[in-house]
Amino acid sequence: MGKNLFAVLMIGLLAFAFACSKESGGTTALSVASFEFPLESTDVATGAEVYAEFCEGCHPGGEAGDGPKIAGDMETPAELRWRVRAGGDDMPAFGPNKISDTDLEALLAFTETFGAVRR
Ligand code: HEC
Repeated sequence: MGKNLFAVLMIGLLAFAFACSKESGGTTALSVASFEFPLESTDVATGAEVYAEFCEGCHPGGEAGDGPKIAGDMETPAELRWRVRAGGDDMPAFGPNKISDTDLEALLAFTETFGAVRR
């Protein structure tokens, strides 16, 4: 009995937390730590296309534009994945509906070419 009640409470709590995280715009609730896994993609060509479509406008060639310079920042893959998924004050968030997980890895491989990220 006690155990069942606990399980029901936990499920309720999780559902509530999930609903709240969606309400606040979703991905900003994600932590950098949840993106910590090795960068394995070497698909620079696809990454260049993704960058041209979603990033180039504000970080032209990795340099400053409407956004800051990111070339040479040498962020960890987790930090860059989080930044793309969570956005910033003036940077939009890009969910998997815009940039798939596979494309995100390719994007990282491309940004590695100008030192925005390190493996
Ligand atoms: C509409 C303009 C805009 C677009 C599009 C954009 N960014 Fe940004 N980006 C910014 C701004 C502005 C910041 C500064 C942080 C903030 O807004 O909170 C930023 C910050 C960053 C940072 C952190 C830089 C630092 O020094 O802290 C990284 C990395 C980054 N962007 C990468 C990307 C990538 C990769 C893409 C494409 C998926 C992208 N940005 C698309 C505007 C943009």
